[in-house]
Parts: sequence; C-alpha cells; structure tokens
Amino acid sequence: MEQKTFDREAMRIRIDYNNMMQETLGARGLTKDELLALPLETAVQAMKTKRGSMKWRELPHNQDEIVKEIEAVAKDVRERFDNFVVLGIGGSALGPIAVQQALSHLHYNDLPKEKRNGPRLYVEDNVDPERMNALLDVIDVNKTCFNVITKSGSTSETMSQLLIVTDILHKALGEDISTHLIATTDHEKGNLIKIAKRENLTTFYVPDGVGGRFSELCPVGLVAAAVCGIDIRALLAGAAYMDELTQNENVFENPAYLMAALQVAAMKRGANIHVLMPYADSLKYIADWYAQLWAESLGKRVGNDGTEIYAGQTPVKSLGVTDQHSQVQLYTEGPFDKVVTFLSVDKYRKTMPIPEGYLDIPDVSFLCGHTQNELIAAEEAATEYAIMKSGHLNYAIRMPEVNAFTVGELLYLFEVQTAFAGELLSLNAFDQPGVEEGKKATYALLGKPGFAEKKAELDAAPAKLDAYIVK
Ligand code: PA5
Repeated sequence: MEQKTFDREAMRIRIDYNNMMQETLGARGLTKDELLALPLETAVQAMKTKRGSMKWRELPHNQDEIVKEIEAVAKDVRERFDNFVVLGIGGSALGPIAVQQALSHLHYNDLPKEKRNGPRLYVEDNVDPERMNALLDVIDVNKTCFNVITKSGSTSETMSQLLIVTDILHKALGEDISTHLIATTDHEKGNLIKIAKRENLTTFYVPDGVGGRFSELCPVGLVAAAVCGIDIRALLAGAAYMDELTQNENVFENPAYLMAALQVAAMKRGANIHVLMPYADSLKYIADWYAQLWAESLGKRVGNDGTEIYAGQTPVKSLGVTDQHSQVQLYTEGPFDKVVTFLSVDKYRKTMPIPEGYLDIPDVSFLCGHTQNELIAAEEAATEYAIMKSGHLNYAIRMPEVNAFTVGELLYLFEVQTAFAGELLSLNAFDQPGVEEGKKATYALLGKPGFAEKKAELDAAPAKLDAYIVK
C-alpha cells in the first residue's frame, strides 16, 4: 500500500477550552485557580514514573516487526476472502468498530467488491442469538475469515462465539480450520492460546501490560484495520506524534493533561456526566470506544489508598448534528451536571453543495449556494454558542481532518487523558473489578468449574419479592 506522509503541525489536534472558563462562561465557569488546586504536579510525576508499566504507551514505537506481519496476513486475507468477522467484546471490539467507521467508507460493507479496500467487515460484540443467526444468514463461511480476539482468553461471550464458529468451520472445512481463523490473545494466559495452538492458528498477541480498552493500537485493532486497507503505519505515526505532545509537563500545554484537569475540576463542581459529541458520522463510534475507556477506567469504588471514593463520570455518546434534535434541549436548559465535549472536524473528506431550488420560498432558499460542510460547521458553532450562553460547561477538540494520522493522535490523546485523570483522582485506571464481578457471576450461573462458591453466593442473594413485580 502507498505510504502517505502527513504534515504533523498541520494535522495537530487542538483544544479550545474557552467555554469551560469563567472569563467566557461567567460564574458557572472554572477558574484557573481551581485547575491549579488539583494535584497536578503529583499526577505529572506519577505519569513519568509509571510510564514503564503503561505498556500501551509504547505501542506507537515498538511494533515494526508486528506491523510487517499484520500487513502480510492482511494481504492474504484480502486476496482470499469476501468477509472478515471479528469475534470479541469490550476493548476487543470497540476499537476495531471505531477505526473502521472513522477511516473506511461510511457504507463500506454495501460497496461492490471492486470499490472496497478489502473484505466486508463485521464486528460481533454481543451474544444476542438473533444477531449470530443474522450474521450467518449474510455470510458464506467458506469465504469468511474470522478473527477471535480476547486478551484474557476466557471471556464467556467470545468463547461462545468461538465454539459456534469452530463448529461451523469444522463442518464446512473438515479437520483443518486454520485457513479461516485467526486468534488474537495473551501469549500464554487463558484458553484461547491453548485452542490456537491445538488448531494451529495464525496468532497475534496482546502485549503484557496492555489492557483491553487500551489495546486498539496493538494487533487487537490493527489486524482488522489492515485487512480493510487502512494505513496502520499512519495510525501509529499519529499516535507517536501525540505521545510527543503529551510528554509536555506543563499541564496547560499538554492537551491530554489539560482535558483531564478540566474534567476532574468539573467533577468537583458536580459535573458527573461527560457528553462526547462528534460532529462527523465517521467519528460516532469513537464516542462508543471512549465511553468504555472513560467509564471502566475511572468508575471506581476505592481509591489508591483503599478508601471508598465511588469515583467516575458517566460518559454519554451524542452525535452532531443528529442529537441536536434530541439532547441539546437538555444540555442547554437541564441541570449543571455535565461537560459537553465537542469533537469537530475542520475539513471533511467530501463536499456536498446545496443546489438552487424553491427560490420563491426564502425560508428554504437561504440554504442554496451553501454546502452541507458550511451547514454542519455553522450548526456546531451555534450549538457551542447556545450551550455556552446557557452557562453549561463545554469545550472543543478540533481535528484538522479525519485521516489515519489524526485518528491515531485522537485515540492516544484520549488514552493519556484517561490515565492522567486516574492520577488526579488517585485511583487505578487500569483495572476493572466491577466487570470481573459480573464475569464471575456468569461463570457461576452457567456452571463453570471452580465457581461453586460464587454460585452459593448468588443463591444466597435476597429473593425477588412478588410485591415488587408488576404482572
Ligand atoms: O478493558 C477491558 O479490559 C475489558 O473491557 C475487556 O476488554 C473486555 O472485558 C473483554 O475482555 P477480553 O478481551 O479479555 O475478552
């Protein structure tokens, strides 16, 4: 694939936080003193000393060999298959979905083969039986390559999908299913690695110290992206550039640290909701990916010192302009419990002129001669203004364009923001004990060996009272 180079400075993501501050927003805005009152210096130092343990921070720099391997496998998949199906959930699915939406055609799967850069992509991140059946209705397994992804190698949802798919593949292909199945998992932990070895599968690894929601820039996300013809080197180059920018120790010059400080200061004011509102369909699933990153990383009962803190900020996904017509009423006139983060794009990849028509109806014809590009930009500026005027906290992340480089920047920016917010809140942003609890309860309910005690605990839970069930 042709390697595109990007002008780093021109592609730099910018943050405009005027509408968070008192000078613009009035009394409901933050003051610089509030930001300075946060434990900024401690958090900056912690980010430095803990960098070695945050292995995801090295992904833009240490994957030269793996990128070559991924590109070779991707080329082979493109040549042999019509469909590529990712089986995974949470951090093993949201990144591939977000990057595909951001960087491939918005109706990619509907394009004829010659207009796509690879096979159709399906990311199956649920165990809804209707969905699995629906997938099987639209793919020919003989022409489908599956990529099963689970870092832990034991997630029930993914394992159930794998059992269904391997059964189908064995029936269709016989003994050897390695031609149609790729595994991505931990190099030694969990069950997927055992299955991968038994079935002799091409296997990619989730590096140690890279948690699920921080794994998009490793093979978890890169394989599907490369298969669909996305420039994964540019994605990593953008992330590497953001790594440079986010090593600045001055919080007010470091976009990730600054965004974290703004959110944490807002949380102290009771803004426990964080709305991420991209003004681009291409970025709408970035908001899904971010929701997991922010929620699972910061939603914690206990802090680093063991005290109960019940921290976190509820992420809300919103799409501009679509959700102007469903949620912005709440954002302008509702409670002062949220921060709205606009995610804007300076230059869209396409232009759509609005042609002349109905010139005798001025309320319609004022649009003529403009473009949808101008319209979406005006609507975003107007919504920023309206939310600011109503005194509600908001700021904007501005992307020059949506391309592989800037998406790499953006993902890395959000990851560092989340890690820094964890430091400011003095909690562990990298575990997920609440998710693990649910996983264990599922194992117990379905009789997984070793979970008898958990099953007994569930059986001892208070019985449901008929009085509280409407029949
Ligand atoms: O961020 C996380 O670690 C989780 O959300 C996981 O991504 C999710 O639970 C899926 O786990 P796994 O990749 O081990 O199947």
